[in-house]
Amino acid sequence: MTQDELKQAVARAALDYVVDGAIIGVGTGSTANFFIDELANIKSRIKGTVASSEATAARLKSHGITVFDLNDVDAMPVYIDGADEIDASGAMIKGGGAALTREKIVASVADKFICIADGSKLVEVMGQFPLPIEIIPMACASVSRSLAALGAKPVLRLKDGHPLVTDNGGWIIDAGGLKITNPRALEQSINDMPGVITNGLFARKGADVCLLGMADGVTVLKF
Ligand code: 5RP
Repeated sequence: MTQDELKQAVARAALDYVVDGAIIGVGTGSTANFFIDELANIKSRIKGTVASSEATAARLKSHGITVFDLNDVDAMPVYIDGADEIDASGAMIKGGGAALTREKIVASVADKFICIADGSKLVEVMGQFPLPIEIIPMACASVSRSLAALGAKPVLRLKDGHPLVTDNGGWIIDAGGLKITNPRALEQSINDMPGVITNGLFARKGADVCLLGMADGVTVLKF
């Protein structure tokens, strides 16, 4: 199976976690896009969605799926999204698609985080994938220095030769070279750096369930 076929398989399997009549939180990225396309087939069964990025909102709307503003939503049973890495405790690195802050906000309102990912995303120790950190632009140099002091190699994410600007007007620093043995503590200490909007560690509130696409089918991990 190709990586895309594995992503499609977990996206389809995630439909089992969609609650009839509810508002569903929807993530960002290629795996989330497969999920959106699957969700379109059962859109009459849900009340609507909350999107974690402008790109996701556009794709949902293109399928005729209702997108609510998070401020108009009190609760959601599930948030369904991909990950860049996930460990055996359900902690994740997210933000490869630069949507980490809205992803963390929408996920925080949901009862359960359902992670959908191809099997390559499951790792023993996270950090091979550079950790994305969304920052206020004026804090780029100071946050980079603080990250370097932690042993990271910070790189400002560029698009067309300029800093990539997120949906929130922030910039993204990708922190490579980290061996993340204590994701909860690192999530907190990076968030404590002045100018950090949030970082892509989802450890204090990680995945509740992970649907992993493997060559022999979808493996369900519960945390
Ligand atoms: C976007 C994300 C994505 O969930 C993550 O990058 C995984 O993406 P993909 O499903 O394309 O592998 O965090 O900000």
